Amino acid sequence: MSTSASLRSGAAAQQAFRDVMAAVASPVAVVTALDGTRPYGTTVSAFVSLSLTPPMVLVSLDERSRLLAVVRRSGRFGVNVLGAHHADLASAFARSGPDKFDGIDWSPSGGLPRLPDNAAWIAAEVDDCVDAGDHTVLLARVTAAELGEGFLRPLTYHRRSFGAHTPLAQ
Ligand SMILES: Cc1cc2nc3c(=O)[nH]c(=O)nc-3n(C[C@H](O)[C@H](O)[C@H](O)COP(=O)(O)O)c2cc1C
Repeated sequence: MSTSASLRSGAAAQQAFRDVMAAVASPVAVVTALDGTRPYGTTVSAFVSLSLTPPMVLVSLDERSRLLAVVRRSGRFGVNVLGAHHADLASAFARSGPDKFDGIDWSPSGGLPRLPDNAAWIAAEVDDCVDAGDHTVLLARVTAAELGEGFLRPLTYHRRSFGAHTPLAQ
């Protein structure tokens, strides 16, 4: 007999939630910001289109994220949507530490750190920050949106592994 999550202990309910969310395929992006001249970046899958008029995106960051502190100060961020060839970048930017950009060939784009060969690039200005549980949701207006070379084969995350989206045969 199955037990509903609400009847489980906190730890069991949390594990059930993690397992369910691991089964949801998600996009993978590196969200970036500049602190003065210093680039910061974090791997994010909680990234979604929010509004068309005006164009807005939503990004959710852990309250302990170093990047979040930088975005709160600068009020803007870039979203580097990753292609399937960028699983190594996704792992590198999921580490914690101040040196994630060492050896990375990034360039400033409108004052935001842009990674090479991404699947797509979005620049955004924060309209609102909403604290929700242990995360902060950034609601942001899109100021630039460009497809990159890797957009036909985006990187995905599913069941705790990186992969690539494959269209079904017609
Ligand atoms: C596939 C994947 C998706 C992730 N998605 C998010 C996310 O949406 N929000 C978040 O805060 N952290 C996410 N993380 C975890 C962060 O990348 C990780 O905690 C990182 O070390 C935070 O770095 P920072 O403190 O420099 O911001 C994700 C990690 C992986 C591997």
